[in-house]
Amino acid sequence: MKNLVDSPGEVSRIDTSGMLDVVKGFPGQIKEALEIRPEPARMPSADGINSVVVLGMGGSGISGDVVGAACAGSLKVPLVTVKGYHLPDHVGPDTLVFAVSYSGNTEETLDCFGRASARGARLVAVTSGGRLAELALEGGVPIYRIPPGFQPRASLGYLFVPIVSALEQMGAVSGVARGLKEALPMLERRSEEYGPDVPMEENPAKRLAVGLVNSLPVIYGQEGALAVAARRWKAQVNENAKVPAFDNWFPELNHNETVGWQNHAGICSMCHLVMLRQPEEHPRVSLRVDITSELISGSVGHVTQVYARGDTGIERLLDIIYLGDFMSVYLAIELEQDPTPVTRIEKLKRRLADAG
Ligand code: PA5
Repeated sequence: MKNLVDSPGEVSRIDTSGMLDVVKGFPGQIKEALEIRPEPARMPSADGINSVVVLGMGGSGISGDVVGAACAGSLKVPLVTVKGYHLPDHVGPDTLVFAVSYSGNTEETLDCFGRASARGARLVAVTSGGRLAELALEGGVPIYRIPPGFQPRASLGYLFVPIVSALEQMGAVSGVARGLKEALPMLERRSEEYGPDVPMEENPAKRLAVGLVNSLPVIYGQEGALAVAARRWKAQVNENAKVPAFDNWFPELNHNETVGWQNHAGICSMCHLVMLRQPEEHPRVSLRVDITSELISGSVGHVTQVYARGDTGIERLLDIIYLGDFMSVYLAIELEQDPTPVTRIEKLKRRLADAG
């Protein structure tokens, strides 16, 4: 019998809001986002900054992690993504702060934005509107205004590319926007390779999804870009497929989690470990992945290795994120779960608002 992911009728019955089409449009989204200009055009200077801080939660917050990975090697100051209510003490007049909220109404981000403003930080906003846009307009803070009507997690291109453009414009990084442009033909090819028209036998995203049905996905990345990709895979599986998933990264996990597979055999056997890999790994990390796989393969249900593909670091980062995005939507379809709604997040936000 055909898998649901290979049946166009079933795909459109389940994916009622067309998440798959939005995911397919990722290369176009990056292209479009590269053209977005801030309003007003006057940007803060990056001269003498001690750090870059990205404020954002969930589908918006991951943009900070992606920028950190994409700009590694070019950005000469630390980039910190703040995912919560606490604005680090070092944030002040010499900090460049990006407040990123797709809706513009996320309370943690608004809270930190207010405090960063009070401390005289150099501010930029990325949003489709909401309270963040209002506050930015009132304060003369430049806004990268992104199109409304998408789910935040389905807007990754719109959310992270403006930060890269801003850093380029300020001279804080160079060559990263060009790297994104050069990655577009590769992403367009992947949008076909991972897309719905390619059947499961030839489609790695569909195969991965089908392999994850009825298991607890545990995604292992590696320090740097693959740790960011692992976090994105975990969150996409959570929000699109509505399935619990966890992530961790080498080498840190060798100092704790590796031991944690020794007990609770029933639970461990339900886990499907996905190791995210890349062609040029730190040799000691490669060795760690091999040894760890051997040590724990008898405890976990399955281990799958997935390699990022591409000629540059940016290409590999985008390729593996893209593969995970498709996979998470196919997993939703196999589970007959509409990937778009995130009812619990909405309920939670409503209850918090009602609580004042
Ligand atoms: O994917 C989601 O809907 C969430 O993770 C949101 O991104 C998160 O709640 C933050 O909202 P926003 O992106 O609108 O700031």
